Amino acid sequence: MLRIEKLVKKYGNFTAVNDLSLTLNRGDIFGFVGPNGAGKTTTMRVVAALMKASSGTVYVDGINVAQRPREAKAKLGYMPDFFGVYDNLKVNEYMDFYGSCYGISLSDRKRRTGELLELVDLLDKEDSYVDTLSRGMKQRLCLARSLIHNPELLILDEPASGMDPRARIEMKGILKTLKTMEKTILISSHILHELVELCSCIGVIERGRLVYSGRVEDLMSRLEGRSMIRLRVLSDVDKAVNLLKEQPYITEINGEDNELEIGYEGEQEDMARLLKLLVENDIPVISFSEIAGNIEKVFLEVTKSAGE
Ligand SMILES: Nc1ncnc2c1ncn2[C@@H]1O[C@H](COP(=O)(O)OP(=O)(O)OP(=O)(O)O)[C@@H](O)[C@H]1O
Ligand SMILES: [Mg+2]
Repeated sequence: MLRIEKLVKKYGNFTAVNDLSLTLNRGDIFGFVGPNGAGKTTTMRVVAALMKASSGTVYVDGINVAQRPREAKAKLGYMPDFFGVYDNLKVNEYMDFYGSCYGISLSDRKRRTGELLELVDLLDKEDSYVDTLSRGMKQRLCLARSLIHNPELLILDEPASGMDPRARIEMKGILKTLKTMEKTILISSHILHELVELCSCIGVIERGRLVYSGRVEDLMSRLEGRSMIRLRVLSDVDKAVNLLKEQPYITEINGEDNELEIGYEGEQEDMARLLKLLVENDIPVISFSEIAGNIEKVFLEVTKSAGE
């Protein structure tokens, strides 16, 4: 559905994207991760035919984006990371405007607008002015707009950035719906664990280079048998640490005050045994739970070895 071949994008002498190749099959959800300035937005803008590559080729469903931008644009929806200002435009007028840009008939525009505003939960804001929407609402509207022509490929540049936790969860829900609609999605974010939940593949870009690309299952299989436990005690932290240190399956102990994070390799039975041990030694445990913190760590290892 999307093929990027040896993409290079230069701004003057500065190389923002360097020899980047990537393939997304139909239905893939590809998470694009990387620090600020890595080249995510640049790559996405080239794919969306908003900017020309310095060299290399991008194909959207077999269409060369540089040679046939109009046809490529009809197949893709792009949600930018930055939302413009829209004076005196109401939500439904905004949707209608974008629909007409794609040459969609009036009746289809009306129908699509209703469906999409429902999808992003903005039906009650239909008659509000765009500029009066909150940031999270504007982002959802922007997503709805990018879907107006029912594109097969979606390019979403940090769709959940700046959203509050509740809005993020809602955005995730919307994206999951899109996943069930079998859209192909290229999505960027700084927050890895959000992408892992949603994506089928992950790519890491650093200083313009794709330093890692792989399926989420492969990443997750490296996590098997390794976990982190968060332990909270009322008192006797030192005693607890000493007990933990004696256990062979404990790989690390971090923490302060009455809260410890314990890295651990072993079976679930070992975990149960560990809790029993603490309690039997009169450690006043008030909480003992597995946490997902390790994914970031495995990921750093993977990308570090890939980068070397
Ligand atoms: N129009 C431009 N002119 C010159 N340099 C640019 C331009 N746009 C981007 N750059 C540079 O290209 C590099 C990549 O920028 P880009 O916006 O693609 O990064 P990003 O991965 O999207 O970062 P962020 O996570 O902050 O959104 C940066 O060093 C940036 O300063
Ligand atoms: Mg960006």
